[in-house]
Amino acid sequence: MRDVSKSLDIVARDERFIAPSSRSPYYPFAVASGSGSTLRDADGNEYIDFAAGAASLNTGTCHPRIVAAIKEQAERLLCYTIGYMYEESSVELAEKLAQITPGDFPKKTAYGLSGSDAIDGAIKFARKYTGRSGVITFKTAYHGATYGALSASAISLNMRRGIGPMLPGFHHFSYPQCAKCPWHEKPESCSLACLEEIKTAFSLYLPPDEVAAVIIEPIGGDIGLVVPPARWVRELAALCREHGILFVSDEVQQGMGRTGKWFAIEHFGVVPDIIAIAKSLASGMPLSAVVMRAEIADSLRDPGHCITLAANAVCCRAALETIKIIEDENLIEKSVRTGENIKAKLAEMKKALPLLGETRGLGLTIAQEIVDENGEPDRGACAKICYRCWERGLIITFLSDNVLRIQPPLVITDEETERALEILRESIEDYRNGLIGDEVLEFARGWA
Ligand SMILES: Cc1ncc(COP(=O)(O)O)c(C=O)c1O
Repeated sequence: MRDVSKSLDIVARDERFIAPSSRSPYYPFAVASGSGSTLRDADGNEYIDFAAGAASLNTGTCHPRIVAAIKEQAERLLCYTIGYMYEESSVELAEKLAQITPGDFPKKTAYGLSGSDAIDGAIKFARKYTGRSGVITFKTAYHGATYGALSASAISLNMRRGIGPMLPGFHHFSYPQCAKCPWHEKPESCSLACLEEIKTAFSLYLPPDEVAAVIIEPIGGDIGLVVPPARWVRELAALCREHGILFVSDEVQQGMGRTGKWFAIEHFGVVPDIIAIAKSLASGMPLSAVVMRAEIADSLRDPGHCITLAANAVCCRAALETIKIIEDENLIEKSVRTGENIKAKLAEMKKALPLLGETRGLGLTIAQEIVDENGEPDRGACAKICYRCWERGLIITFLSDNVLRIQPPLVITDEETERALEILRESIEDYRNGLIGDEVLEFARGWA
């Protein structure tokens, strides 16, 4: 077994001094350094990264070009405030974001620091522009931790219990999870009963002309990387258009090339009015962007959405370099290719390992379900397998009880992918052979 004594010491000190509210523990991994798709812990052990900082590291850890851009900018200007000054990198980035986001119309960007504040910003802009207060979001969605984003979310009681009330005006409807369809619809004959729920609300108790926005995750992230049917997304967008409701795509987790397009909503041929971006935007540096139709942006006067450290020049330079790397290294195409390769290898593995259930996803957002002998979700097995992967040198997490979350950096090499899947296979074998004790479940609690 590896020596992880320094890591365990950091974990113990963390538990004494850091609020537990921010962490879902999977294993005592104390990261110290890394490059590309390799991470090193405080004891010097190496791991392959199948988590990419919860999809924040599409260009990998410490890409040399990102590090160089940060160093160069840091020597010139660390901080200014967008509230009172102008600075070129933020303008250049907004120009670039207007190009790479879907929609051939004038756009403007509002900056922030996190996915959560981007969602809060989207809510504010949508309410101000439409003069309406209602916001439609979906059961099982995660949009963030600030009060606006949290009011939009509906995925965990731990996130809400004891801290209410949430913001008023939010209405949560069913997100299509076709494999678990409560209406028992079949894909070939589906009548989109989940969309009907919204239409019924519009006719009975929720005046559509009081709804400002629909906010969707183009792939249901934290519920287990669920890809909705394209028809649902398109018809939802049509319903929005019919009633003058703004369509907001939360691309915080899936954006910046991860799914094989710049933004996941492009898979469905829908052009949103507002896009929220964060995480991988600046390769993990704190930066978010609300990119929207210019007239929506112009509707909110100063200082309606002003965050002192937003659009920090170091972060904007990192974001500009991130976009160039994604273009120069063809990472969008690579994400499709590597994703297909992983899915094919998992399909092969499944032949001998029936506890591998459904595999789904787009590009390098891949969900692998872990099931018991009856095909039912097996959270305990999933948690143990994740823990053993860490012990064997692979960083991978799970969501929604039994879904392995495979979201490596887009720069991962074929050799690293091969080795990571080999570690996953060995860990599953260990589980099948009863070699992973129940004691690991005390630590490997994951998302609750
Ligand atoms: C889809 C989605 N939206 C918003 C957020 C919130 O982003 P942040 O944690 O940067 O505030 C997340 C975070 O996981 C997310 O997955």
